[in-house]
Amino acid sequence: MVTGGLALAACSHQGGGAPDTSPAPTDVLSGGPRTSASSDASLKASAAPADSPGDHVSPDSLQVLVNKRNPLSPRDYAPSDLQAFGSVQLRSAAAQAAQQMFDAARQAGLSLIALSGYRSYAEQVGTYQHWVNTYGKEQADVASARPGYSEHQTGFALDVGTGAGCDLQVCFRETDAAQWLAEHCTRFGFVLRYPWQQHETTGYWFESWHFRFIGTDQADAYRKAKARSLEDFWGYPTAATYAD
Ligand code: DAL
Ligand code: ZN
Repeated sequence: MVTGGLALAACSHQGGGAPDTSPAPTDVLSGGPRTSASSDASLKASAAPADSPGDHVSPDSLQVLVNKRNPLSPRDYAPSDLQAFGSVQLRSAAAQAAQQMFDAARQAGLSLIALSGYRSYAEQVGTYQHWVNTYGKEQADVASARPGYSEHQTGFALDVGTGAGCDLQVCFRETDAAQWLAEHCTRFGFVLRYPWQQHETTGYWFESWHFRFIGTDQADAYRKAKARSLEDFWGYPTAATYAD
């Protein structure tokens, strides 16, 4: 169990929050990427030209898998089609989908805000180092990705909150917003990337606020498959720890 009462949320530069209280990841499995034959024709048109179905390696791909065993290549990759979404930036297709998701949430009586989107390699250096300096490397590594290993660097990851006290904290999972997002995110092409008790696969504590855009076809297939993680869905080995 995490006992440190960590004070900074995993995904953000912003303060407040503590990681999930699940047991620490212990499983050490390695393995390289395997590709799947899945496709997402509906979003190919709005995503960058480099996107191609089943490509889990190219950093521009809508289906790129980023975890502790699959860093971005190059490590300092930056997307070229970022656009503003609230106070953050996302890749264009993700920003459009996030807007639709937030509009639908508003129709349901929920006011959502974007807390963190694209983060550059250099920004992740600062975020991760803050965790290490404050809580030590072991705790940092189950809450914050090392530079070059964060989904936020793809421009496809979005941390969502409401502006209330539980943003980026464990208690966010109890909010109406988190429950609505978990239920409806796949309609808009997002998946809950670090689910409850999947840390031995994903490498990170439960983050009820972190959503990854993979496109509506893929997200719908993810929901129908009752997949527990992108590693599970795309047929990759678990990624509880770094290779070094
Ligand atoms: N909190 C997630 C794992 C990140 O830092 O990208
Ligand atoms: Zn995040």
